[in-house]
Amino acid sequence: MIILGIETSCDETGISLYDTNLGILTNKLFSQNIIHTKYGGIIPEIASKNHYKKIFIILNKALKKTKKKIKNINLIAYSAGPGLPNSLLIGTTLAKSISLIYNIPSIPINHIEAHILSTMINKYKPNFPFISLVTSGAHTLLCIVKNYGNYKIIGQSLDDSAGEIFDKISILLKLKLPGGKYISKIAKYSDKNLNFPKPLINKNTLNFSFSGLKTHIFNYIKNNKLNFNCKANIAYSLQKSINTILIEKIKLASEKFKINKLSIVGGVSSNNNLRKKMLNLTKFKKKIFFNSKKLCTDNAAMIAYTGWIKYLIKKKNIKNNLEIDIKSKWKINEKF
Ligand code: KG4
Ligand code: ZN
Repeated sequence: MIILGIETSCDETGISLYDTNLGILTNKLFSQNIIHTKYGGIIPEIASKNHYKKIFIILNKALKKTKKKIKNINLIAYSAGPGLPNSLLIGTTLAKSISLIYNIPSIPINHIEAHILSTMINKYKPNFPFISLVTSGAHTLLCIVKNYGNYKIIGQSLDDSAGEIFDKISILLKLKLPGGKYISKIAKYSDKNLNFPKPLINKNTLNFSFSGLKTHIFNYIKNNKLNFNCKANIAYSLQKSINTILIEKIKLASEKFKINKLSIVGGVSSNNNLRKKMLNLTKFKKKIFFNSKKLCTDNAAMIAYTGWIKYLIKKKNIKNNLEIDIKSKWKINEKF
């Protein structure tokens, strides 16, 4: 069976073809990072306009690369939320148009659930139950993955996400988006730890809070001359604070729920320093699951794969629903 995955929830246009026997056939992505860096953050109207401009080109490239035709596709899985409404609408409209013309069933996919299940695409994957840390641009949350479609949220950010802090501070340091990537590059040149705060780190809670860290760094930047050395020290100290918080909360979750299998997903999980810190946690030895970097950040392969899982859960009973349906604030445990 061939599944077309479509991802347009934020600023990455993704198309993937997933073969349920062979795995990922192609996983194409057009990233708008350069475009939004100019504006200092993601501008929703510009994001949707660029999805619209690129999506057909990427779809054609994916078909050409895999030597497939639309009529070879058996199921369409599209990102239906959470995300930017106008961006979600582009992928959804494409899904429903193909569905209508070619009579192929389509299925809405929760983008966060797709991040969580992205570790299951690989041969080496965790058994249920495991703890998953979702750390993307818009979300920082911890959940217990009890089974496919069965998630218990055990902690989440009370304010900003970790990825958001990386992005905002990166722009203030006149670096690029995605912030975390450029912060981690410049952090290597640091010669001093500025000991930035680590909110909620010693508290007995699995929730996160990053806004105090953001304000602290805003003030630090206001009061200091931003030369290269200063930027490197800010980057290093920011990365250290965020990664230490993430690690401590994972350790606490493992202790509280007595689960020592762990997956980390979402864009921030491509951070090398975080991966190294995770692998140093002796307690989780051999039970830590990350993805290749292409599957950490937004992509359509995880959408297609989740479509496959949903298809199996629904006992292959997927209706050809042609309604243009998105849910921009779709919570992971909510029905669509
Ligand atoms: O999962 P993702 O691609 O998009 C959302 O679903 O939001 O995550 C994007 C986030 C951005 O905040 C970006 O700064 C962060 O992932 N990111 C990184 C790295 N690469 C991307 N954070 C830390 N280190 C990286 N190498
Ligand atoms: Zn994402």
